Amino acid sequence: MEKKKNIMDYDTVTLDDENSAVVIIDQTKLPARTEIISLKTAQEIWDAIYLLQVRGAPAIGVAAAYGIYVLAKGIETEDFDTFYAEFKKQKEYLDSSRPTAVNLSWALNRMEQVVLNNKEKSVAEIKQLLKEESVEIQEEDIRVCKAIGEYGLTLVKPGDGILTHCNAGKLATSKYGTATAPIYLGQERGYQFRVFADETRPLLQGARLTAFELQSSGVDVTLICDNMSATVMKNGWVDAVFVGCDRVAANGDTANKIGTSVVAAVAKLYNVPVYIAAPTSTIDMNTPTGAEIKIEQRKPEEVTEMWYKERMAPEGVKVFNPAFDVTDHELIAGIVTEFGIARPPYEESFKEIFARKEAAAKK
Ligand code: MRU
Repeated sequence: MEKKKNIMDYDTVTLDDENSAVVIIDQTKLPARTEIISLKTAQEIWDAIYLLQVRGAPAIGVAAAYGIYVLAKGIETEDFDTFYAEFKKQKEYLDSSRPTAVNLSWALNRMEQVVLNNKEKSVAEIKQLLKEESVEIQEEDIRVCKAIGEYGLTLVKPGDGILTHCNAGKLATSKYGTATAPIYLGQERGYQFRVFADETRPLLQGARLTAFELQSSGVDVTLICDNMSATVMKNGWVDAVFVGCDRVAANGDTANKIGTSVVAAVAKLYNVPVYIAAPTSTIDMNTPTGAEIKIEQRKPEEVTEMWYKERMAPEGVKVFNPAFDVTDHELIAGIVTEFGIARPPYEESFKEIFARKEAAAKK
């Protein structure tokens, strides 16, 4: 078998229906090793999401959709109530793996809706519909990212400097990424962007994943430590910041990887516009403001010893390790969705975006 060489040739998440497995690239091993793993049990799927073997809001949604399908397929009963009770248990378990990215519960709720809307059908038919829905969630993800890329591209011009934080790239989605979608589309069209990738402490998604995938695609990318963004902006090297998101509140406040709000505050100082690339599945109209977004807290070891040959902090020191922060909507110049670019005031703009979404669904 011919060996694939480029990370862009691999699927971030895929379904192996024959073997009843969710197949992912183990992102904790990148960039050193490209290991593909198969997840079959609820515990394996939960762990893969919690441990960030699969991560990034849209990819988590796709993995959860395939995951719940695979688990549903294994429920051996013909009785709807027994099937649904077990389905619900597994769904709630997967939903508990990470709290901040709304795509996780969004995808699982969508799958549950398939079950509830088809009560009168046989369990075997429901399983088939669950498969179709999970595949559709992934296909939609690709279409959505491409549309975000097209809208995002209208905000920049050839040769621009773009700064990004964390990984909202292909590895966080099924293709194109969200924040990277304009970069990849621009690359195809000869835009020659200069991209600055924040390394993104403590889990280094920017260094390990964004720098890796952009470099593998031939994009001009420069890796910087998180504390260097002010310098590159002050030097005039950055024309726009593009980042992804894990949950956008109804007022436009946006939860994304820890450190995003620092970048946005610095960008404001240097008059650099900050754009959030946001599939509408990440906009949570049930969360009024960023204050209501639950922020995942992670283990202290990620800060004190992970990635180092030896521990880099005194034993017993107190550690604060939130995985995400909330960027105030005042710092955001635009929220780029698959249905257009939302501008402040976001409550109003989102109404229009969701109206376009509804209209498109009716077509
Ligand atoms: O903890 P992670 O790596 O899952 O965090 C990922 C991010 O913060 C991304 O920017 C976000 O999920 C958007 S991915 C398109």
